[in-house]
Amino acid sequence: MYKEICNKYAPTKDNLIYILHDIQDTHPQHYISEEAVEVVSEYLKVPANHIFGVLTFYSMYSTKPRGTNIIRLCESPPCYIKGSDNILRKLKTMLSVNVGETTKDGAFTLELAACLGVCGNAPVMMVNDDVYGDLTEEKIEEIIGKIRGGN
Ligand code: FES
Repeated sequence: MYKEICNKYAPTKDNLIYILHDIQDTHPQHYISEEAVEVVSEYLKVPANHIFGVLTFYSMYSTKPRGTNIIRLCESPPCYIKGSDNILRKLKTMLSVNVGETTKDGAFTLELAACLGVCGNAPVMMVNDDVYGDLTEEKIEEIIGKIRGGN
């Protein structure tokens, strides 16, 4: 699977981040394994250490298996002022996880993010590619309930 993804891109160092993105997006657990790093390293002729450096530098990459749904709550000041800390508390309680952890059923991983670019709707979070704004504790229950229910 990793080799197939690599083959979609020219074997140049410039494509490293695109390949890593593709691998992470394609993996059902949204992460980049050591095995994947080895395949990419060989394909691009880039040392594995360099790739691990890139993975550590950018917070959007994960080297640990994550849940089916990735929640990224904005922790930047405009969202904080509008109560993102209450939203975080609600998410932690509802999902029984801390930041960086995945629920026991593997359905959700809770992460924090810097400004998501829609501060006018603070507090804001993303679940996978969907943005949710003007969050309240009630809205969190609704959103998580809908995702759990498959809607
Ligand atoms: S500060 Fe939260 S979206 Fe910009």
